[in-house]
Amino acid sequence: MRPLIVPSVLSADFSRLGEECVELEQAGADRLQWDVMDGHYVPNLTFGPDVIASCRGLVSCEFEAQLMCDRPEELLPRYAEVGCEWIIVHPETLRQPHRTYQRIRELGAKVGVGLSPATPVSVLEHVLDLVDMVLIMTVSPGFGGQKYLSSMEPKIARVRWMIDDSGHAIDIEVDGGIGPTTIGGAATVGANVFVSGSSIAAAEDRAAAIKELRRLAADAIAD
Ligand code: DX5
Repeated sequence: MRPLIVPSVLSADFSRLGEECVELEQAGADRLQWDVMDGHYVPNLTFGPDVIASCRGLVSCEFEAQLMCDRPEELLPRYAEVGCEWIIVHPETLRQPHRTYQRIRELGAKVGVGLSPATPVSVLEHVLDLVDMVLIMTVSPGFGGQKYLSSMEPKIARVRWMIDDSGHAIDIEVDGGIGPTTIGGAATVGANVFVSGSSIAAAEDRAAAIKELRRLAADAIAD
């Protein structure tokens, strides 16, 4: 598995959002993550679909929308319409998870299931045939710049086992505190897609930072 590096737009300079998306793509981003927050499910408020639409035509890389919102079912069509190829939802915000995952696919997007730190992996049972990616949060969602929770590594390993046992081709994406000193731990136990916000945003040379993260992950996966 070639590791993918997915910069989070949450750490971008919002006064230059479009330019930041272009710079991140030019720096080698495999896709961009939009942390959509409603101020209810998480204590922060971020991007509506029109903000994403304003940046869609500037880059060709895929967009993933992580919907950290109450009642995200009502938002699905809007985020699909503005060009998010991946839509990630958190099971505890859904009334009917199985139906919601079907709906995301009907809208032409790929399905991500987001597991906050305390969400058990049992929520993945009976739905893996509808899932394209499991996002394992290695921080509590809401803000960038938080400390990586290495206590999530057994959970990553368990989800990797569940996916391999299912026979379905499903990515494991990790998100939260991912940088040069933490990416190896997540990759070693089964993650293959890595969201990074503050670590890349703070880098003098973003292309070098992304290249280094990809190398560290590839080395850990190969071990
Ligand atoms: C938390 C956000 C952050 C963000 C990445 O809800 O999802 O994890 O994407 O930010 P860093 O890499 O700074 O933790």
